[in-house]
Amino acid sequence: MALIDLYNTDIKNKNKEKRELEFNLNLKKIKPSGIRKLFDLAQGQKDLISFGIGEPDFITPAHIREAAKKALDQGYTRYTPNLGFPEFRQALANKLKIKNSISVTPEEVVVTSGGTEALFFSFYTLINPGDEVIIPDPGFVVYESQVNFTGGKPVHFPLRGENNFHPEVNELKSYIIPKTRAILINSPSNPTGAVFTEEELLAIANIAREKDLFVISDELYEDIIYNGRKHISIASLPGMKERTISIFGFSKSYAMTGWRLGYLVAPVNLVKEIAKLLQNTSVCANSITQKAGLAAIEGPQDCVQEMLLAYSERRNVLVQGLNEIKGLSCYAPEGTFYAFVNIKNTGMTAEELSIYLLERCKVVTVPGTAFGTQGEGYIRLSFATSLEDIKEGIRRIKRGIENIVAVSE
Ligand SMILES: Cc1ncc(COP(=O)(O)O)c(C=O)c1O
Repeated sequence: MALIDLYNTDIKNKNKEKRELEFNLNLKKIKPSGIRKLFDLAQGQKDLISFGIGEPDFITPAHIREAAKKALDQGYTRYTPNLGFPEFRQALANKLKIKNSISVTPEEVVVTSGGTEALFFSFYTLINPGDEVIIPDPGFVVYESQVNFTGGKPVHFPLRGENNFHPEVNELKSYIIPKTRAILINSPSNPTGAVFTEEELLAIANIAREKDLFVISDELYEDIIYNGRKHISIASLPGMKERTISIFGFSKSYAMTGWRLGYLVAPVNLVKEIAKLLQNTSVCANSITQKAGLAAIEGPQDCVQEMLLAYSERRNVLVQGLNEIKGLSCYAPEGTFYAFVNIKNTGMTAEELSIYLLERCKVVTVPGTAFGTQGEGYIRLSFATSLEDIKEGIRRIKRGIENIVAVSE
């Protein structure tokens, strides 16, 4: 290469580096997801059993799909009002009143393109740069990234294995400083499967009232809950509606991940701000999807129960199978379709074990550390997959783990 070409290439690279340095600093804080790493390693491999993906393996129920086809034929192909079709917001308000004991008007309901967008709108509306938001650790990966987007500071509140990942509410208090703006709670919880009790929610509500904080309550898994436990919405507790943004979705309850539909409930003054975000970003949730969502909410709920029954059977098979493997122990999740498995006796870190299971056993799992430092010593297995795959997966994990445990003895 001629000297002049070398010089030009050097200048080009320097300019590129300079341009990249000028990209949004909040975005630069976002680390690549620990889940992605495993999925990248799994790419192109054949004969894998996957416990990785956090989405139902069911197709959306037929009556919901039919409603979407009908909406398309009827020409619902235009923008909808920013906050959603009025009849849909009304139906959601009715559902919230009956099922969640949150007494709201449609004006307090915002339809969004998924729970993820609802979370983003919540953080963006509440947080000023430098404000702190308490998020669970381990917790859904999006919370930390989204708080960072706003210039706020995510503060990890540890949920510990010895408490089956239930919150130590007295400890929570020690994380609150004058800059704390909100506490995020997620029950039923991804990745741990914990369902917070009424006492725990009452205690968190007391703290929020006492310290004048907002609560963002992620209730995506409200329908996936086992053994007669009850899902309680924190906004239904005394004095909480005015300081809570509750987030719900269709992805998990109705197997509608690809449709992108969710909703949030918030005080009207917050809804007014969120409307500005909608007007200037996604404008509105997809019109056909909203019509499908209306059919989901107003139609028969047997489909939700049928899926729950299937998850329940898979949960029992998976938990029993895992507990029979020397070196592993698994507390039966109280909700969600995730098992958070204690792997401490294998002598490996979570990431080492996930990589080992993928490379040697062709089983995809997610290291607990993808969800925060408290996830060390755990791997997450999603059982939103067939019973046959679960049984084969257990066989493979058993063989793989027995090899390690035998070597370390
Ligand atoms: C805890 C939790 N909250 C929110 C979401 C977002 O779901 P969606 O954007 O599909 O509604 C997920 C998805 O996995 C989740 O696990």
